[in-house]
Amino acid sequence: MKTLLILLGLLSIQLISAQLSPSCFTRYNYGDVVQKSILFYYAQRSGKLPAYNPVPWRGDSAVNDQGDNGEDLSGGWYDAGDLVKFNMPASSAVRVLLSGIVRWKDAYQALGQLDLALDSVKWELDYFLKCWIADKEIYYYQVGDADIDHKFWGRPEDMSMPRPAFYLTKDKPGSDVAGGTAATFAAGAIAFNITDAVYSQKLLKAAESLYKFAVTYKGKYSQTHSDTGTYYESSAYEDELCVAAAWLYKATGNTFYLTEAKLYHSSATPNRLDWDNSLPSCQLMLYELTKNDLYKGEIQKFLTVWKPGGNTTYTPCGLGIFDRWGTARHAADNSYAALWAAELGIDPLENRNWALSQINYILGDNNYKMSYVIGFGNKYPLKPHHRPSSCPDLNMYCGWDAFYSTAPNPHRLEGALVGGPNKTDGWDDDRGDYVRNEVALDYNAGLQSACAGLVHICSTGELPPNPTPKC
Ligand SMILES: *[C@@H]1O[C@H](CO)[C@@H](O)[C@H](O)[C@H]1NC(C)=O
Ligand SMILES: *[C@@H]1O[C@H](CO)[C@@H](O)[C@H](O)[C@H]1NC(C)=O
Ligand SMILES: *[C@@H]1O[C@H](CO)[C@@H](O)[C@H](O)[C@H]1NC(C)=O
Repeated sequence: MKTLLILLGLLSIQLISAQLSPSCFTRYNYGDVVQKSILFYYAQRSGKLPAYNPVPWRGDSAVNDQGDNGEDLSGGWYDAGDLVKFNMPASSAVRVLLSGIVRWKDAYQALGQLDLALDSVKWELDYFLKCWIADKEIYYYQVGDADIDHKFWGRPEDMSMPRPAFYLTKDKPGSDVAGGTAATFAAGAIAFNITDAVYSQKLLKAAESLYKFAVTYKGKYSQTHSDTGTYYESSAYEDELCVAAAWLYKATGNTFYLTEAKLYHSSATPNRLDWDNSLPSCQLMLYELTKNDLYKGEIQKFLTVWKPGGNTTYTPCGLGIFDRWGTARHAADNSYAALWAAELGIDPLENRNWALSQINYILGDNNYKMSYVIGFGNKYPLKPHHRPSSCPDLNMYCGWDAFYSTAPNPHRLEGALVGGPNKTDGWDDDRGDYVRNEVALDYNAGLQSACAGLVHICSTGELPPNPTPKC
Protein backbone atom coordinates (compact mmCIF):
# COMPACT_ATOMS: atom_id res chain seq x y z
CA MET A 1 0.00 0.00 0.00
CA LYS A 2 2.77 2.41 0.98
CA THR A 3 4.78 1.68 -2.15
CA LEU A 4 1.65 2.20 -4.20
CA LEU A 5 1.14 5.64 -2.69
CA ILE A 6 4.75 6.53 -3.44
CA LEU A 7 4.42 5.31 -7.01
CA LEU A 8 1.27 7.38 -7.40
CA GLY A 9 3.17 10.39 -6.10
CA LEU A 10 5.95 9.83 -8.62
CA LEU A 11 3.46 9.29 -11.39
CA SER A 12 1.73 12.54 -10.59
CA ILE A 13 5.05 14.34 -11.09
CA GLN A 14 5.19 12.92 -14.60
CA LEU A 15 1.53 13.26 -15.53
CA ILE A 16 -0.23 15.92 -13.57
CA SER A 17 2.54 18.43 -13.16
CA ALA A 18 1.79 20.22 -16.40
CA GLN A 19 -1.92 20.32 -15.67
CA LEU A 20 -1.83 21.47 -12.06
CA SER A 21 -4.18 24.36 -12.29
CA PRO A 22 -3.42 26.79 -9.52
CA SER A 23 -6.53 28.23 -7.94
CA CYS A 24 -5.13 31.71 -8.37
CA PHE A 25 -2.90 33.32 -10.95
CA THR A 26 0.80 32.83 -10.27
CA ARG A 27 3.68 33.94 -12.41
CA TYR A 28 5.49 30.71 -11.64
CA ASN A 29 4.24 27.20 -10.86
CA TYR A 30 5.37 26.87 -7.24
CA GLY A 31 3.82 23.39 -7.00
CA ASP A 32 6.11 22.24 -9.79
CA VAL A 33 9.12 23.48 -7.77
CA VAL A 34 7.93 21.47 -4.74
CA GLN A 35 7.59 18.29 -6.81
CA LYS A 36 10.95 18.72 -8.51
CA SER A 37 12.69 19.53 -5.24
CA ILE A 38 11.47 16.24 -3.77
CA LEU A 39 13.18 14.50 -6.70
CA PHE A 40 16.44 16.29 -5.89
CA TYR A 41 16.43 14.61 -2.46
CA TYR A 42 15.95 11.21 -4.14
CA ALA A 43 19.09 11.93 -6.21
CA GLN A 44 21.10 12.51 -3.01
CA ARG A 45 20.31 9.07 -1.56
CA SER A 46 23.11 6.88 -0.23
CA GLY A 47 22.87 3.17 0.61
CA LYS A 48 20.80 0.43 -0.95
CA LEU A 49 18.06 2.05 -3.01
CA PRO A 50 14.50 0.71 -3.14
CA ALA A 51 13.18 -0.75 -6.39
CA TYR A 52 11.09 2.35 -7.07
CA ASN A 53 14.17 4.62 -7.19
CA PRO A 54 12.96 7.38 -9.52
CA VAL A 55 16.47 8.55 -10.52
CA PRO A 56 17.67 6.06 -13.16
CA TRP A 57 21.28 7.28 -13.11
CA ARG A 58 21.62 6.51 -9.39
CA GLY A 59 22.24 3.05 -7.90
CA ASP A 60 23.33 1.47 -4.62
CA SER A 61 26.34 3.14 -3.01
CA ALA A 62 28.30 3.26 0.25
CA VAL A 63 26.35 0.24 1.47
CA ASN A 64 29.19 -0.57 3.89
CA ASP A 65 29.27 2.75 5.72
CA GLN A 66 29.75 1.81 9.34
CA GLY A 67 30.76 3.05 12.76
CA ASP A 68 33.87 2.20 14.77
CA ASN A 69 32.12 -0.72 16.45
CA GLY A 70 30.67 -2.04 13.22
CA GLU A 71 27.36 -0.20 13.54
CA ASP A 72 25.45 -0.04 10.25
CA LEU A 73 25.56 3.58 9.07
CA SER A 74 24.47 2.99 5.49
CA GLY A 75 21.71 5.12 4.01
CA GLY A 76 21.01 8.81 4.40
CA TRP A 77 21.73 11.60 1.95
CA TYR A 78 24.94 12.94 0.45
CA ASP A 79 25.63 16.50 1.49
CA ALA A 80 25.90 18.48 -1.71
CA GLY A 81 28.06 18.12 -4.82
CA ASP A 82 30.31 15.97 -2.64
CA LEU A 83 29.65 12.60 -1.02
CA VAL A 84 30.10 13.15 2.70
CA LYS A 85 27.21 12.70 5.11
CA PHE A 86 27.25 15.72 7.46
CA ASN A 87 24.46 15.66 10.05
CA MET A 88 24.77 19.32 11.04
CA PRO A 89 23.44 20.81 7.78
CA ALA A 90 21.39 17.69 6.95
CA SER A 91 19.41 17.74 10.20
CA SER A 92 18.63 21.40 9.64
CA ALA A 93 17.48 20.67 6.08
CA VAL A 94 15.15 17.85 7.18
CA ARG A 95 13.74 20.04 9.94
CA VAL A 96 12.96 22.87 7.53
CA LEU A 97 11.31 20.35 5.17
CA LEU A 98 9.28 18.76 8.00
CA SER A 99 8.26 22.17 9.26
CA GLY A 100 6.90 22.96 5.78
CA ILE A 101 5.13 19.60 5.56
CA VAL A 102 3.48 20.06 8.97
CA ARG A 103 2.54 23.68 8.37
CA TRP A 104 1.48 23.50 4.73
CA LYS A 105 0.25 19.92 4.56
CA ASP A 106 -2.75 21.02 2.48
CA ALA A 107 -0.37 22.20 -0.24
CA TYR A 108 1.38 18.82 -0.37
CA GLN A 109 -2.01 17.09 -0.42
CA ALA A 110 -3.32 19.28 -3.23
CA LEU A 111 -0.19 18.48 -5.24
CA GLY A 112 -0.59 14.74 -4.60
CA GLN A 113 2.86 14.81 -2.98
CA LEU A 114 2.31 14.23 0.74
CA ASP A 115 3.26 10.54 0.75
CA LEU A 116 6.23 11.16 -1.48
CA ALA A 117 7.46 14.08 0.63
CA LEU A 118 7.20 11.97 3.80
CA ASP A 119 8.91 9.03 2.10
CA SER A 120 11.66 11.36 0.97
CA VAL A 121 12.53 12.69 4.45
CA LYS A 122 12.03 9.30 6.11
CA TRP A 123 15.16 8.10 4.32
CA GLU A 124 17.25 10.62 6.21
CA LEU A 125 15.35 10.22 9.49
CA ASP A 126 16.00 6.45 9.33
CA TYR A 127 19.68 7.23 8.90
CA PHE A 128 19.72 9.65 11.86
CA LEU A 129 18.08 6.91 13.98
CA LYS A 130 21.01 4.61 13.11
CA CYS A 131 23.46 7.36 14.11
CA TRP A 132 22.08 7.72 17.66
CA ILE A 133 23.06 4.78 19.84
CA ALA A 134 21.21 5.81 22.97
CA ASP A 135 22.32 3.05 25.35
CA LYS A 136 25.99 3.80 24.65
CA GLU A 137 25.56 7.58 24.43
CA ILE A 138 27.24 7.71 21.04
CA TYR A 139 26.03 9.94 18.23
CA TYR A 140 27.63 9.64 14.80
CA TYR A 141 27.55 13.11 13.24
CA GLN A 142 29.53 12.48 10.06
CA VAL A 143 30.47 9.69 7.68
CA GLY A 144 33.22 10.38 5.16
CA ASP A 145 36.33 12.52 5.50
CA ALA A 146 35.84 15.71 3.53
CA ASP A 147 39.53 16.09 2.63
CA ILE A 148 39.67 12.56 1.23
CA ASP A 149 36.24 12.86 -0.36
CA HIS A 150 36.98 16.12 -2.16
CA LYS A 151 40.00 14.60 -3.91
CA PHE A 152 37.64 12.19 -5.66
CA TRP A 153 35.53 13.24 -8.64
CA GLY A 154 33.24 10.46 -9.68
CA ARG A 155 29.99 8.82 -8.82
CA PRO A 156 29.14 7.47 -5.36
CA GLU A 157 28.48 4.02 -6.83
CA ASP A 158 32.24 3.80 -7.65
CA MET A 159 33.75 5.10 -4.40
CA SER A 160 36.59 3.06 -2.95
CA MET A 161 38.24 5.56 -0.59
CA PRO A 162 38.00 5.08 3.17
CA ARG A 163 34.85 6.57 4.71
CA PRO A 164 35.61 7.02 8.39
CA ALA A 165 32.79 7.82 10.80
CA PHE A 166 32.95 10.53 13.47
CA TYR A 167 30.99 10.58 16.68
CA LEU A 168 30.07 12.50 19.81
CA THR A 169 30.54 11.11 23.29
CA LYS A 170 29.99 12.66 26.70
CA ASP A 171 33.66 13.67 26.71
CA LYS A 172 33.58 15.14 23.21
CA PRO A 173 30.00 16.40 22.92
CA GLY A 174 28.22 18.54 20.33
CA SER A 175 25.03 20.12 21.63
CA ASP A 176 24.57 21.85 18.27
CA VAL A 177 24.42 18.79 16.01
CA ALA A 178 22.83 16.56 18.68
CA GLY A 179 20.30 19.26 19.62
CA GLY A 180 19.56 19.97 15.96
CA THR A 181 18.94 16.29 15.28
CA ALA A 182 16.74 15.96 18.39
CA ALA A 183 14.65 18.86 17.05
CA THR A 184 14.33 17.09 13.72
CA PHE A 185 13.25 13.84 15.39
CA ALA A 186 10.55 15.73 17.32
CA ALA A 187 9.34 17.45 14.14
CA GLY A 188 9.28 14.02 12.47
CA ALA A 189 7.21 12.60 15.35
CA ILE A 190 4.55 15.22 14.60
CA ALA A 191 4.69 14.79 10.82
CA PHE A 192 4.37 10.98 10.97
CA ASN A 193 1.80 10.85 13.76
CA ILE A 194 -1.18 10.37 11.45
CA THR A 195 0.31 7.96 8.90
CA ASP A 196 2.62 5.85 11.08
CA ALA A 197 2.03 6.06 14.83
CA VAL A 198 4.70 3.45 15.64
CA TYR A 199 7.36 5.34 13.73
CA SER A 200 6.22 8.60 15.30
CA GLN A 201 6.71 7.11 18.79
CA LYS A 202 10.14 5.82 17.84
CA LEU A 203 11.16 9.30 16.66
CA LEU A 204 9.77 10.92 19.79
CA LYS A 205 11.69 8.54 22.04
CA ALA A 206 14.90 9.26 20.12
CA ALA A 207 14.19 13.00 20.29
CA GLU A 208 13.86 12.91 24.07
CA SER A 209 16.97 10.83 24.73
CA LEU A 210 19.13 12.74 22.23
CA TYR A 211 17.93 16.06 23.65
CA LYS A 212 18.92 14.89 27.12
CA PHE A 213 22.37 13.91 25.82
CA ALA A 214 22.72 17.32 24.12
CA VAL A 215 21.89 19.34 27.23
CA THR A 216 23.73 17.12 29.72
CA TYR A 217 27.07 17.28 27.92
CA LYS A 218 27.55 20.73 26.47
CA GLY A 219 29.88 21.80 23.72
CA LYS A 220 30.17 22.82 20.08
CA TYR A 221 31.07 19.87 17.89
CA SER A 222 33.41 21.94 15.78
CA GLN A 223 35.36 22.79 18.94
CA THR A 224 35.37 19.36 20.59
CA HIS A 225 36.28 17.80 17.23
CA SER A 226 38.37 20.65 15.81
CA ASP A 227 40.21 18.10 13.66
CA THR A 228 37.08 17.06 11.73
CA GLY A 229 34.31 19.54 12.38
CA THR A 230 35.67 22.42 10.37
CA TYR A 231 33.65 22.01 7.18
CA TYR A 232 30.37 22.97 8.78
CA GLU A 233 31.61 24.89 11.77
CA SER A 234 28.89 25.73 14.23
CA SER A 235 28.78 29.18 15.82
CA ALA A 236 26.63 28.27 18.84
CA TYR A 237 24.43 25.52 20.24
CA GLU A 238 21.83 27.46 22.20
CA ASP A 239 19.76 28.09 19.05
CA GLU A 240 19.51 24.36 18.26
CA LEU A 241 18.68 23.52 21.89
CA CYS A 242 15.92 26.13 21.91
CA VAL A 243 14.44 24.74 18.70
CA ALA A 244 14.71 21.16 19.97
CA ALA A 245 12.95 22.00 23.23
CA ALA A 246 10.27 23.96 21.34
CA TRP A 247 9.52 21.06 18.95
CA LEU A 248 9.52 18.66 21.90
CA TYR A 249 6.97 20.87 23.64
CA LYS A 250 4.86 20.93 20.47
CA ALA A 251 5.09 17.12 20.22
CA THR A 252 4.47 16.27 23.89
CA GLY A 253 2.70 19.23 25.52
CA ASN A 254 5.11 18.78 28.42
CA THR A 255 5.73 22.26 29.87
CA PHE A 256 9.20 21.23 31.02
CA TYR A 257 10.25 21.61 27.39
CA LEU A 258 8.67 25.05 27.08
CA THR A 259 10.69 26.21 30.09
CA GLU A 260 13.80 24.75 28.46
CA ALA A 261 13.10 26.50 25.15
CA LYS A 262 12.81 29.83 26.96
CA LEU A 263 16.06 29.13 28.79
CA TYR A 264 18.03 28.68 25.55
CA HIS A 265 16.19 31.43 23.66
CA SER A 266 17.97 34.69 22.91
CA SER A 267 16.39 38.02 22.01
CA ALA A 268 19.33 38.98 19.78
CA THR A 269 18.48 39.84 16.17
CA PRO A 270 19.64 36.99 13.92
CA ASN A 271 21.18 38.02 10.59
CA ARG A 272 19.85 34.98 8.72
CA LEU A 273 18.17 31.61 9.06
CA ASP A 274 20.28 28.71 7.83
CA TRP A 275 21.80 25.36 8.83
CA ASP A 276 23.98 27.08 11.44
CA ASN A 277 21.65 29.80 12.64
CA SER A 278 18.39 28.45 14.04
CA LEU A 279 17.63 31.51 16.16
CA PRO A 280 14.87 32.73 13.79
CA SER A 281 13.22 29.29 14.13
CA CYS A 282 13.59 29.47 17.92
CA GLN A 283 11.83 32.84 18.01
CA LEU A 284 9.15 31.75 15.52
CA MET A 285 8.46 28.51 17.39
CA LEU A 286 8.16 30.35 20.70
CA TYR A 287 5.76 32.87 19.20
CA GLU A 288 3.73 30.08 17.64
CA LEU A 289 3.55 28.21 20.96
CA THR A 290 2.99 31.13 23.35
CA LYS A 291 1.67 34.05 21.25
CA ASN A 292 3.80 36.28 23.46
CA ASP A 293 4.40 39.66 21.77
CA LEU A 294 7.99 39.64 22.97
CA TYR A 295 8.83 37.02 20.35
CA LYS A 296 6.75 38.77 17.73
CA GLY A 297 8.89 41.89 18.14
CA GLU A 298 12.07 39.83 17.70
CA ILE A 299 10.82 38.27 14.48
CA GLN A 300 9.77 41.68 13.16
CA LYS A 301 13.28 43.00 13.83
CA PHE A 302 14.85 40.01 12.08
CA LEU A 303 12.70 40.42 8.99
CA THR A 304 13.16 44.21 8.94
CA VAL A 305 16.91 43.65 8.74
CA TRP A 306 16.28 41.47 5.68
CA LYS A 307 13.74 43.53 3.81
CA PRO A 308 14.72 46.46 1.56
CA GLY A 309 15.56 49.50 3.63
CA GLY A 310 16.93 47.23 6.36
CA ASN A 311 20.50 46.15 6.77
CA THR A 312 20.82 43.89 3.74
CA THR A 313 22.51 44.51 0.40
CA TYR A 314 20.24 43.97 -2.61
CA THR A 315 21.40 43.15 -6.11
CA PRO A 316 20.23 45.67 -8.73
CA CYS A 317 17.60 43.10 -9.80
CA GLY A 318 16.35 42.63 -6.24
CA LEU A 319 17.85 39.58 -4.50
CA GLY A 320 18.76 40.10 -0.84
CA ILE A 321 22.37 39.01 -0.25
CA PHE A 322 23.86 37.65 2.97
CA ASP A 323 27.28 36.63 1.70
CA ARG A 324 28.73 35.26 -1.51
CA TRP A 325 28.08 31.55 -0.79
CA GLY A 326 24.75 30.17 -1.92
CA THR A 327 23.05 33.56 -2.20
CA ALA A 328 19.77 32.12 -3.50
CA ARG A 329 19.66 29.71 -0.57
CA HIS A 330 19.77 32.47 2.06
CA ALA A 331 17.04 34.38 0.23
CA ALA A 332 14.92 31.19 0.06
CA ASP A 333 15.51 30.31 3.73
CA ASN A 334 14.49 33.79 4.85
CA SER A 335 11.46 33.70 2.53
CA TYR A 336 10.36 30.52 4.28
CA ALA A 337 10.76 32.33 7.63
CA ALA A 338 8.77 35.31 6.31
CA LEU A 339 5.93 33.07 5.07
CA TRP A 340 5.87 31.25 8.41
CA ALA A 341 5.74 34.61 10.24
CA ALA A 342 2.89 35.73 7.96
CA GLU A 343 1.02 32.53 8.78
CA LEU A 344 1.28 33.48 12.47
CA GLY A 345 -0.26 36.85 11.67
CA ILE A 346 2.97 38.87 11.69
CA ASP A 347 2.73 41.61 9.00
CA PRO A 348 1.21 39.08 6.58
CA LEU A 349 0.91 41.23 3.47
CA GLU A 350 4.36 42.76 3.73
CA ASN A 351 6.10 39.47 4.54
CA ARG A 352 4.34 37.51 1.82
CA ASN A 353 5.04 40.21 -0.69
CA TRP A 354 8.72 40.18 0.15
CA ALA A 355 8.97 36.37 0.09
CA LEU A 356 7.24 36.31 -3.28
CA SER A 357 9.73 38.82 -4.71
CA GLN A 358 12.67 36.64 -3.60
CA ILE A 359 11.23 33.34 -4.85
CA ASN A 360 10.20 34.94 -8.15
CA TYR A 361 13.74 36.28 -8.59
CA ILE A 362 15.09 32.74 -8.10
CA LEU A 363 12.60 31.31 -10.60
CA GLY A 364 13.04 33.87 -13.37
CA ASP A 365 12.54 37.52 -12.35
CA ASN A 366 16.23 38.26 -12.88
CA ASN A 367 18.58 39.72 -15.48
CA TYR A 368 19.06 36.37 -17.26
CA LYS A 369 15.32 35.50 -17.19
CA MET A 370 16.44 32.08 -16.01
CA SER A 371 15.58 29.79 -13.15
CA TYR A 372 18.24 28.88 -10.60
CA VAL A 373 16.30 25.64 -10.05
CA ILE A 374 17.45 22.91 -12.46
CA GLY A 375 14.70 21.59 -14.72
CA PHE A 376 12.27 24.40 -13.88
CA GLY A 377 11.10 26.54 -16.80
CA ASN A 378 13.08 26.44 -20.03
CA LYS A 379 16.33 28.13 -19.01
CA TYR A 380 18.27 26.82 -16.03
CA PRO A 381 21.79 25.73 -14.98
CA LEU A 382 23.22 22.86 -17.04
CA LYS A 383 26.55 22.37 -15.28
CA PRO A 384 25.98 22.16 -11.54
CA HIS A 385 28.92 21.29 -9.29
CA HIS A 386 27.59 17.82 -8.49
CA ARG A 387 29.59 14.64 -8.88
CA PRO A 388 26.89 12.02 -9.66
CA SER A 389 25.00 14.01 -12.35
CA SER A 390 28.28 15.09 -14.01
CA CYS A 391 29.06 11.43 -14.76
CA PRO A 392 27.86 9.43 -17.76
CA ASP A 393 25.64 6.35 -17.33
CA LEU A 394 26.28 4.02 -14.41
CA ASN A 395 28.47 1.43 -16.10
CA MET A 396 30.77 3.94 -17.80
CA TYR A 397 34.04 5.44 -16.58
CA CYS A 398 33.84 8.70 -14.62
CA GLY A 399 36.69 10.81 -13.26
CA TRP A 400 38.13 14.32 -13.19
CA ASP A 401 37.60 14.75 -16.93
CA ALA A 402 33.88 14.90 -16.14
CA PHE A 403 34.64 17.82 -13.83
CA TYR A 404 36.73 19.65 -16.45
CA SER A 405 34.33 18.92 -19.33
CA THR A 406 32.74 22.02 -20.84
CA ALA A 407 29.64 20.02 -21.83
CA PRO A 408 26.44 20.08 -19.73
CA ASN A 409 26.15 17.42 -17.02
CA PRO A 410 25.00 14.22 -18.80
CA HIS A 411 22.15 13.87 -16.29
CA ARG A 412 19.69 16.54 -15.27
CA LEU A 413 19.69 17.05 -11.52
CA GLU A 414 15.98 17.81 -11.50
CA GLY A 415 14.82 20.25 -8.85
CA ALA A 416 18.18 21.27 -7.40
CA LEU A 417 18.74 24.91 -6.46
CA VAL A 418 22.28 26.04 -7.33
CA GLY A 419 24.24 28.57 -5.28
CA GLY A 420 22.97 31.62 -7.14
CA PRO A 421 24.23 34.96 -8.46
CA ASN A 422 26.77 37.34 -6.95
CA LYS A 423 25.89 40.73 -5.51
CA THR A 424 25.74 42.34 -8.95
CA ASP A 425 23.35 39.64 -10.29
CA GLY A 426 26.25 37.96 -12.13
CA TRP A 427 26.33 34.21 -12.64
CA ASP A 428 28.07 31.78 -15.03
CA ASP A 429 27.14 28.21 -15.85
CA ASP A 430 30.47 26.86 -14.61
CA ARG A 431 30.84 23.50 -12.84
CA GLY A 432 34.15 24.60 -11.32
CA ASP A 433 32.52 27.55 -9.53
CA TYR A 434 31.27 25.85 -6.36
CA VAL A 435 30.34 29.16 -4.77
CA ARG A 436 27.62 29.86 -7.36
CA ASN A 437 26.93 26.38 -8.77
CA GLU A 438 27.07 23.82 -6.03
CA VAL A 439 23.82 22.29 -4.84
CA ALA A 440 23.15 21.18 -1.26
CA LEU A 441 20.61 19.56 1.04
CA ASP A 442 20.16 22.81 2.93
CA TYR A 443 19.87 24.93 -0.24
CA ASN A 444 16.69 23.17 -1.34
CA ALA A 445 14.99 22.93 2.03
CA GLY A 446 14.02 26.59 2.46
CA LEU A 447 13.02 26.78 -1.20
CA GLN A 448 10.78 23.70 -1.05
CA SER A 449 9.05 24.84 2.14
CA ALA A 450 8.64 28.42 0.87
CA CYS A 451 7.08 27.15 -2.37
CA ALA A 452 4.71 24.90 -0.37
CA GLY A 453 3.79 28.02 1.61
CA LEU A 454 3.06 29.88 -1.63
CA VAL A 455 0.88 27.01 -2.92
CA HIS A 456 -1.00 27.18 0.39
CA ILE A 457 -1.70 30.92 0.23
CA CYS A 458 -2.63 30.56 -3.40
CA SER A 459 -5.48 28.27 -2.35
CA THR A 460 -6.55 30.46 0.59
CA GLY A 461 -6.61 33.55 -1.62
CA GLU A 462 -3.90 35.26 0.43
CA LEU A 463 -1.23 35.36 -2.27
CA PRO A 464 -0.38 39.02 -2.97
CA PRO A 465 -0.19 40.24 -6.57
CA ASN A 466 3.13 39.50 -8.26
CA PRO A 467 5.73 42.13 -7.39
CA THR A 468 6.98 43.93 -10.50
CA PRO A 469 10.32 42.43 -11.54
CA LYS A 470 13.20 44.90 -11.25
CA CYS A 471 14.91 43.49 -14.36
C1 LIG B 1 -0.57 12.09 17.81
O1 LIG B 1 -1.97 12.19 17.70
C2 LIG B 1 -2.65 11.89 18.90
C3 LIG B 1 -4.15 11.87 18.61
O2 LIG B 1 -4.53 13.05 17.98
C4 LIG B 1 -2.25 12.90 19.96
O3 LIG B 1 -2.89 12.60 21.17
C5 LIG B 1 -0.74 12.89 20.15
O4 LIG B 1 -0.35 13.91 21.04
C6 LIG B 1 -0.03 13.09 18.84
N1 LIG B 1 1.40 12.90 19.01
C7 LIG B 1 2.33 13.66 18.38
C8 LIG B 1 3.74 13.33 18.64
O5 LIG B 1 2.05 14.58 17.63
C1 LIG C 1 23.91 45.50 10.21
O1 LIG C 1 25.07 45.42 9.39
C2 LIG C 1 26.28 45.74 10.07
C3 LIG C 1 27.39 45.79 9.04
O2 LIG C 1 27.39 44.65 8.21
C4 LIG C 1 26.52 44.69 11.15
O3 LIG C 1 27.70 44.99 11.85
C5 LIG C 1 25.33 44.70 12.11
O4 LIG C 1 25.48 43.68 13.07
C6 LIG C 1 24.03 44.49 11.36
N1 LIG C 1 22.90 44.62 12.25
C7 LIG C 1 21.98 43.68 12.37
C8 LIG C 1 20.87 43.97 13.31
O5 LIG C 1 22.01 42.64 11.72
C1 LIG D 1 29.60 38.95 -10.80
O1 LIG D 1 29.54 37.96 -11.82
C2 LIG D 1 29.79 38.47 -13.12
C3 LIG D 1 29.58 37.31 -14.09
O2 LIG D 1 30.37 36.22 -13.72
C4 LIG D 1 31.21 39.05 -13.19
O3 LIG D 1 31.47 39.57 -14.48
C5 LIG D 1 31.32 40.15 -12.14
O4 LIG D 1 32.67 40.64 -12.11
C6 LIG D 1 30.94 39.62 -10.77
N1 LIG D 1 30.89 40.71 -9.81
C7 LIG D 1 31.43 40.65 -8.62
C8 LIG D 1 31.26 41.85 -7.75
O5 LIG D 1 32.06 39.68 -8.24
